[in-house]
Amino acid sequence: MIEELYTPQQIELERRARELAETVMRPVAAKYDVEQAYPWEVQQAIKEAGLSGVWIPQEYGGLGGGVLDLCIVVEEFSRACGGMGVGFAVNALGSFPIMVGGTDEQKQRWLPPIAAGEKLIAFGLSEKEAGSDAGSMKTRAERDGDHYVLNGEKKWNTGGAVASLNTVFAVTNPDRGARGISAFVVEKGSPGYRVGKHEDKMGIRCVPVVEIHLEDCRVPADNLLGGREGLGFKHAMVTLDRARPGVAAQAVGLAQGALDLAMQYTHERQQFGQSVSSFQGVQWMLADMATQIEAARQLVHHAARVIDSGHKQITKVSAMCKLMATDVAMKVTTDCVQLFGGYGYCKDYPIEKYMRDAKITQIYEGTNQIQRLVIARNLLREAAGPAK
Ligand code: CAA
Repeated sequence: MIEELYTPQQIELERRARELAETVMRPVAAKYDVEQAYPWEVQQAIKEAGLSGVWIPQEYGGLGGGVLDLCIVVEEFSRACGGMGVGFAVNALGSFPIMVGGTDEQKQRWLPPIAAGEKLIAFGLSEKEAGSDAGSMKTRAERDGDHYVLNGEKKWNTGGAVASLNTVFAVTNPDRGARGISAFVVEKGSPGYRVGKHEDKMGIRCVPVVEIHLEDCRVPADNLLGGREGLGFKHAMVTLDRARPGVAAQAVGLAQGALDLAMQYTHERQQFGQSVSSFQGVQWMLADMATQIEAARQLVHHAARVIDSGHKQITKVSAMCKLMATDVAMKVTTDCVQLFGGYGYCKDYPIEKYMRDAKITQIYEGTNQIQRLVIARNLLREAAGPAK
């Protein structure tokens, strides 16, 4: 980090996040990857370090840091463990709908415990038949007195098994398409709320990704975000615009972490009587990777700054940084495995985990095909000029 470009709070955040990542996360990353278990000790350490609410405004108990501060922390965590990076970042994804769409009473109710690390929150948008086409979801919410009754299934719910809160999107008016979708904060333990299948994943194995079953699940009408029906799809899209830089930061952290390991390995590994890093072919790979990571990092930080500035047009730059950083992460982590040769393909070294963890970043919070679609739509709209 070039300190002149960041605030004292951001420099301090990076330092604290790196220390936590190196002392608490890295030593247990392989263990939780094997066990596919949630690292509660890491969650406790994040809470004690006061980092749980980096992105939450100070009036609700957070650090008031914005998206750039979130990205700085997520990159550092992911440099040590991609799963622990997303385990943290998913709480931003789950709480952004409250921040962008909640009433003041709802913000007061839910944001302080999230900021304090007392409650984790997930994001329930996708379904088995509604992934990229999020607007085609089938989960229904019907009003019944002072409650809504939710029925349906949510898929790919990251952190859902450990979260006390879940921001769930459901159709309140099937005749209105995307404008008939509403968002609810559903509390774990609500009648009819059940955590289902745990996915057995290639990477990010320390974070549970689960199905959520809603079977006549009764939710107080007060939990309808914004207090009005039909705003849910917009809340989801505006949320993803704010959250995608977090995935991109996870990708930058994974790429940087893999390069750190490859730098060390190629320096120590001797072949043909010399260090592998003395070969020009290897040096060019290292130089390309470092350049690609820095370019990705700068696009992520630019996108985060645009979002934090309050600028209205954030969709394109957010999708661009997610697309670029996650493709860089996949390429860099794959090339780093290559630099480890046969050892890279085995679990003797931590490098293969970086490649497995990186893959999901090209898929979740909108596949990179969807990012390209979003970028192209915005490009074409800009080229067409303002609506007459
Ligand atoms: N900001 C504000 N409003 C937006 C918007 C944005 N970025 N994007 C769309 N909208 C609005 C549109 O203006 C439109 O509003 P009106 O009805 O008032 O005109 C409405 O939303 C519908 O928009 P579209 O017609 O563009 O919608 P679409 O059906 O064509 O789909 C899409 C758009 C971009 C493809 C969207 O479906 C999408 O983002 N899909 C990917 C979903 C995704 O990222 N899922 C990941 C979920 S999280 C996850 O991965 C799991 C996890 O736990 C980590």
